[in-house]
Amino acid sequence: MRVEQLTYSIGAELVGVDLADAIHDEGIFAEIRAALLKYRVLFLRNQEFSRAEHVAFARRFGDLEDHPVAGSDPEHPGLVRIYKTPEQPNDRYENAWHSDATWREAPQFGAVLRCVECPPVGGDTMWANMVLAYENLPEHVKSQIADLRARHSIEASFGAAMPIEKRLALKAQFPDAEHPVVRTHPDTGEKVLYVNGFTTHFTNYHTPARVRFGQDGNPGAADLLRYLISQAYIPEYQVRWRWQKNSVAIWDNAATQHYAVMDYPPCHRKMERAGIVGSKPF
Ligand code: SIN
Repeated sequence: MRVEQLTYSIGAELVGVDLADAIHDEGIFAEIRAALLKYRVLFLRNQEFSRAEHVAFARRFGDLEDHPVAGSDPEHPGLVRIYKTPEQPNDRYENAWHSDATWREAPQFGAVLRCVECPPVGGDTMWANMVLAYENLPEHVKSQIADLRARHSIEASFGAAMPIEKRLALKAQFPDAEHPVVRTHPDTGEKVLYVNGFTTHFTNYHTPARVRFGQDGNPGAADLLRYLISQAYIPEYQVRWRWQKNSVAIWDNAATQHYAVMDYPPCHRKMERAGIVGSKPF
C-alpha cells in the first residue's frame, strides 16, 4: 500500500490497496487505521466492492448507525443513501460545513463514503482539519473558549423544514446534545475545535466573568461562535476531492469537518455512506 499525501494539512490517497481485502486482513486494516488518524481523511479510487463488503469494511471500525432523516439501503442497515436527483434540487443538507451527527450525544467516529454515480463535472467534497484549526487560533481565543460548551441540534438543521409536529417528534427522539467547544481526540489526545453547522449556541457563556452588560452575552457570544465556525472555511486547512464512480473516502469525524459542494444540478449524484458509531466527546 502506498500513501500519497495530498496537502501538508490534511488528506492522503491510498494506492495499491483493495478495501475488500482489509475486511479480513488485520495488517492492512491496521495500516489504514493508522493512516486515518495521521491524515484525517483517506481517499481511494476504483473500489469495486459490493454493498455487503462496504458495510463489512466499515464495521471493522465499529458498529454502524442509520440516519433518522436520510434513508438507508433496506438490505444493508447502516448504509445511508445520499442520492441527489434533478427532481430534488432543494435537498441541500450536505453543503454546510459539519461533522456528522454532532446532534447525537455520541457523534460518529467516522464514515466510509463511496461514489455510486457522479455528475460529469462538479459535486466534489471538501474536508477541513479541525485539529489544525484549533492549533492556529490566537492564544487569547484559546483561553476564552477553553471551558465553553455548546448545543448541537437536529431540530434546527434537518428539522427546520418539517411541519412543526414532525419537527417536535424528531427533537423528542434526538434532544439537542451539548459538547465541549474544544474536544480531546479519543485516539490521539489532540485538541479539536468542535463547533460546526449543527451548533446553535454556547450554553455556559453568560457568566459574570464574560458578561458585563447584556450585549456581551448576545451578540457577543453569537459573534464568537460565528468566528469559530468560520475557521473551517480557511482553504489552508482543507483538501478537495474530485469523485469518480467507485471512489471512496474514509474520514475521522472527530478531527474533521466536510462540505459537499452543490454545484452540479441538474444532474444525478449518488453516494452511499456507512456511518460508524462514536463516543461521547470530552
Ligand atoms: C456527508 O455530508 O456526509 C456526505 C458528503 C458527500 O455527499 O459528499
